[in-house]
This record gives sequence, structure tokens and C-alpha cells, in this order.
Amino acid sequence: MDYDVKDMSLADQGKLKIEWAEATMPVLRLIRKRFEREQPFKGIRATACLHVTTETANLMKTLKAGGADVRLCASNPLSTQDDVAAALVRHEGIPTFAVKGEDNKTYYQHIESAIAHKPHLSMDDGADVVSHLHSKRKDLLRNVIGGTEETTTGVIRLRSMAEKKVLKFPVISVNDADTKHMFDNRYGTGQSTMDGIVRATNRLVCGSTLVVAGYGWCGRGIATRARGMGANVIVTEIDPLKGLEAVMDGFRVMPMDEAAPLGDFFVTVTGNLKVIRGEHFAAMKDGAIVCNSGHFNVELDIPALEKLSKKKLAVRSGVDQYTLKNGRRVSLLGEGRLVNLATAEGHPSSVMDMSFANQALGAEYIVKNYKKLEKKVYPVPADIDKEISRLKLAGMGVSIDKLTKEQVKYLASWEMGT
Ligand code: ADE
Repeated sequence: MDYDVKDMSLADQGKLKIEWAEATMPVLRLIRKRFEREQPFKGIRATACLHVTTETANLMKTLKAGGADVRLCASNPLSTQDDVAAALVRHEGIPTFAVKGEDNKTYYQHIESAIAHKPHLSMDDGADVVSHLHSKRKDLLRNVIGGTEETTTGVIRLRSMAEKKVLKFPVISVNDADTKHMFDNRYGTGQSTMDGIVRATNRLVCGSTLVVAGYGWCGRGIATRARGMGANVIVTEIDPLKGLEAVMDGFRVMPMDEAAPLGDFFVTVTGNLKVIRGEHFAAMKDGAIVCNSGHFNVELDIPALEKLSKKKLAVRSGVDQYTLKNGRRVSLLGEGRLVNLATAEGHPSSVMDMSFANQALGAEYIVKNYKKLEKKVYPVPADIDKEISRLKLAGMGVSIDKLTKEQVKYLASWEMGT
């Protein structure tokens, strides 16, 4: 079998971790059971480009149980869990191409290796496989019936491709499902980002000032968790509605120019580039800690930080301390890549259960419906999204009320008023 992982001797440790994650992924387990019976992916070749984590391993096992010929590569050079990659190869027989810390060249070689089986389906986190197929491997496009996309940044790229009429197959936007972004982006990013910061630095959060750039679902999650840990949270925004929401949620809101000298920690989750720039790094306090939890590492202007600095030292694993020419030190976590995956383990499995249930059912939807679909970005069908919330509640042992007949009638009527 073709594969490229760091160290096969890590495979048994990886297997135990995959099983540990599986224990809190009841929805995916149910889907896997059904897929085993129904074999929806029989004869389907699927290339997945996702963060190679314990949760992703469970998704890969689910697709394979459904009959798919799956290959996996990393969606970020720093997010791979090497023991998980080894376990997927040895224990699951899934060709995996991912090594934590791989350089950009290897990253794209791994994408090439993963698509070498000529996929029918793409499953992306950030749209790198879709983009690669459309730019470098157009010869493979004719086999592809559709794809799924995990994250906000990937969906933005795909919508741009669809608007420009260059997208050659339909893609399901998993990120748009309520059971994805309301939970994964908010609670997943909230917890795993704080986890990444704490694991990398071992600094005390309470009493500190933490600046969050961006108040989308991820920003809300981080701001809420940081406040819960006792931080004074400042939010920066460019959208007046989100800025207003942050104010009414009780956070201080101000431009980055004003926040830069105040923060002890900075986290970017905007999806845009150069959110923290040279002038901001230059204004920071001695000891400031900066990281990014958005998909790409462009949110921080790292070249500007390098330029301002006279010295760079790796002071801890995942922590590069820059000494600026003004004498102050600014520490960058995880090379500015997704801090929650670079210095921690990404979102906990219980939340990825819903995201990956959407991936699995989105892929099944494509296989069943691709002939009817246009070359566009589609949401996860609402009935699938609802069903996932139902199954998740059931998996957590939580029951909810049912409408009475009288309530159903009331909701359907317009006659009954004051
Ligand atoms: N994205 C964020 N957290 C993740 C995880 N644990 N697995 C896969 N993708 C993720």
C-alpha cells in the first residue's frame, strides 16, 4: 500500500487514541453501522484532505465501512497527529499521506499522492484538493461527481469559484449546517484554541487581557471561553453588526490599533489576511503572545514581524520568541498556523461527531443525487441537519418536548389572534 507517515511504530498508540475519540462520537457510530449494511459508497473512490486527527480517523473508518476506497492527506502542514496517521495505515489499511511539520512542497506532494487513485469524491477542509484539481490536475476532473467542504475559508473559496463559473462539480458546504458551525466553530474552536494557548505557554489566563480579532462563530466561542477562564476580553471587528453584538455580549470593542498595546494574548479568527500587522506588533507590550486560529496563517503578517525583529528563538515547543528592535519580546505560537491543532489536538471528538456526521451524510447525498445537482455550492439538506441534532441529543441521553396537536394547529392558523 502506498503511504507516507512519520513513524509506523506509533500505530498502536494511535489506534487507542482513535478508539478513545470514538467513544464520544455516537452519531458517527450510528451512521457507520448503517453504512456497513447499505454500502452507499460501493465502487466510489474518495480523496479526503482533512486534519489528520483521531476524529478524522473515525470519519475515514466510516467512509471505508460504507464501501469507499479512501485516501487521506493533511489539510495543514502542522495539524497531523503522527500516531493517528500510522494507525490508519497499519490498522485500517487506509493510504495516508501526512507528516506533522511537512514543508509546503511535501504538503502538495501528499495531495498528489492522495488524488492518485482518481477520485470520484473530494472531501476538503480549506478547499485545497478542489483548487489543486481545478488548477494542476484538470485531467482528473472528469471523474469527479462532487465534493464536500468542512470550513468557512474553504466555502468562501468555493463560492468564488462557483460565481466565476469555474467550479466543475457540485460541493456540499458542511460548514453551513447548523449542527456544524453553531457547535464546531463556536464550542470546538472556543475550547481547543484556549487549550492550544495554555498547552503551548502554560501561562495563567485569568487576570490577563485577551484580544480576539473577529466575532464570527469562532470569535464568539473563543471570547466566551476566555472570559470563562477569567480573562478581560477585547474584540476587534470590521462588521458593525458583529461589533455591536460583541458590545452587548459584554466585551470591549475597539480597533486593533488601540487593542495592540493592551493585550497579553492575541488570537485571530477573521478568515482575512494581515489582521495583525507590523504597526500592531511594534505597539505590543513586552511578553505579548500572538496566535491564529483561522484556517490559513495569513491573518498575522509574519514577514512584518520578522522584519521588526533582531532575534528569533524557539523558547518552548510551538513557541517562537521574537525580540523586536525596540527591545520588546513577542511570542508567536504554532508558526501562526491554526493554534488549536498545531499546539493542541483540535476540537474534542464530541463536537466533531456532528461535523463529521454532516461530512458522511453530505458525501452520501452527493453519491445519491449528483446527477440532479449543478456545479454549485449546496448547503447540507435541512432534514439531514435536523436529524443530526436529534441523534446527537439522543446520544447524550437528552429528551425534549413534542408539540401537542393543539399547538400544531395553532402554529398553522392565522385566524387566532388577541
Ligand atoms: N478541525 C478542528 N478540530 C478538528 C479535529 N479534531 N479533527 C479534524 N478537524 C478538526
